[in-house]
Amino acid sequence: MIKDVEYFFNHPLIVGEENKVWTDYRNRTYGENRHGGCIDLYPDCIKESKIGLEFIIKILNEYKPKRILEIGTNIGSFDIIVQELLPATEIYTCDVTDFSPRIKQINDYFGNENIKFANVDSTEFSFKSWIRLYKFDMAWIDANHSIEYVKSDIKTCIDLKIPYILLDDCSERDINDVNIARKTFTQIKEIDHSDSLNLGAISLNKLII
Ligand SMILES: C[S@@+](CC[C@H](N)C(=O)[O-])C[C@H]1O[C@@H](n2cnc3c(N)ncnc32)[C@H](O)[C@@H]1O
Repeated sequence: MIKDVEYFFNHPLIVGEENKVWTDYRNRTYGENRHGGCIDLYPDCIKESKIGLEFIIKILNEYKPKRILEIGTNIGSFDIIVQELLPATEIYTCDVTDFSPRIKQINDYFGNENIKFANVDSTEFSFKSWIRLYKFDMAWIDANHSIEYVKSDIKTCIDLKIPYILLDDCSERDINDVNIARKTFTQIKEIDHSDSLNLGAISLNKLII
């Protein structure tokens, strides 16, 4: 089976009434969190969503990370993609909203506990104490997009010597905090990026030691 963008747009954990509580984020009251995820089916987002998804699929298939740190879980769209493409990969992920019911739903669907969730702010000491116990092959930074938070999240990944860091909403074509934050670190260098023209662009960065 080809696990491409269409496959994920029609995934059983994404489509259907029972998932609307998660996917219909603009009307969502859950935790008062109205952010979307990397699988976004709203008509005005679908073009960008497709480009981002294609890039994420390409990177996961190419690098095959065994353990990933995700900062900003939301409804676990990225986690679903990882579990479908790389069923043995573990993801350690955090969010300021308690998405543990959704993560339980995803882990139950895949019949494992590969996704480990913590309801914590990524800048907090307790988060850093948790993740420093593990070695990660890749990070997906996709939480608070303001400059100080992005800098803190990138620094966390550099401190942990995570060799590949994916950054969301990192376009070169307009001024944005993620890209500005990224460029303050000489220890990371962009090695690939998605073709998205606007803010949704994803950047893959390599840690230079
Ligand atoms: C764009 S969504 C994440 C989408 C998800 N990574 C994906 O690929 O589908 C951003 C999430 O980051 C969370 N967030 C914002 N600030 C945060 C922080 N300081 N620490 C942890 N999570 C945060 C928000 O609550 C929101 O759910």
